[in-house]
Amino acid sequence: MSEEEARRGRALRILGIETQWRLRGAVDMPVDSGAAVTAMTEVSIRSAMPEMGFAAATGMKRTVLQGPSHRGTAHQGASHQGASQPSESNDVPPSAVAKMGWDELQGTVSQCTACGLCKTRQQTVFGSGATRAGLMIVGEAPGAEEDASGEPFVGQAGRLLDNMLAAIGLVRANDVYIANVLKCRPPANRNPQPEEVARCSPYLQRQIELVNPRLILAMGRFAAQALLNSEASIASLRGKVHRAGDRPVVVSYHPAYLLRTLRDKAKAWEDLVLARRQITESARN
Ligand code: URA
Repeated sequence: MSEEEARRGRALRILGIETQWRLRGAVDMPVDSGAAVTAMTEVSIRSAMPEMGFAAATGMKRTVLQGPSHRGTAHQGASHQGASQPSESNDVPPSAVAKMGWDELQGTVSQCTACGLCKTRQQTVFGSGATRAGLMIVGEAPGAEEDASGEPFVGQAGRLLDNMLAAIGLVRANDVYIANVLKCRPPANRNPQPEEVARCSPYLQRQIELVNPRLILAMGRFAAQALLNSEASIASLRGKVHRAGDRPVVVSYHPAYLLRTLRDKAKAWEDLVLARRQITESARN
């Protein structure tokens, strides 16, 4: 077994899926691990990577990123986030956010006082990863570790997410852009409030336009609701490709939920395979 195969095998075991899977038409069938690894390699998403994120292949409007330094680079959330907390409201209208480039957007988020979460956060968590990635993952909100570090998904749920990505051959810094619905931690990790989501959503919308991903993976109820404007359950939304505007969206369980609910890990794996297949197909068209 090669090192790569061993790595994927480990990732799948961490996911709690002892039986591995391969693509067969629209359905993923359990197979022995060697065949699964081979099948995954054959349909490698990496082959699509150079093309991913470009609107030409998808017919989507191309957003020009401001500043050459952002093209295809890992844009970490920390650079503006050590800034001191804002002392007065700097609420910026959504129409202004909609025109911002990365630096201005990140600077604005770092100083945001549009809702009460600015009073309890340590820092904002903007997002991180490859700013021209084909896959954009949207989570819910920073937790304690993200609030302390300024990076999304660095806690236990983040480690599971990294392993899930590894299982489909993706590395977070190179292949994915990760952002949350909320940029600030809700106290005691309570659920995001509708007003907070509404205030924060122009930032996420602008991030999506700037990354211009081939596909968005919405992880958890709040991400699905924010992107699809739907109150439906994850169970009913997952397993298909939705649209947010022109953009394909696949819905899956939140990694923190998967840590508590082993039985749904296999479904999350199917969702990842669906997302990967969609991205690969859109890169071919
Ligand atoms: N959960 C999320 O939804 N986002 C994070 O960044 C961390 C945990």
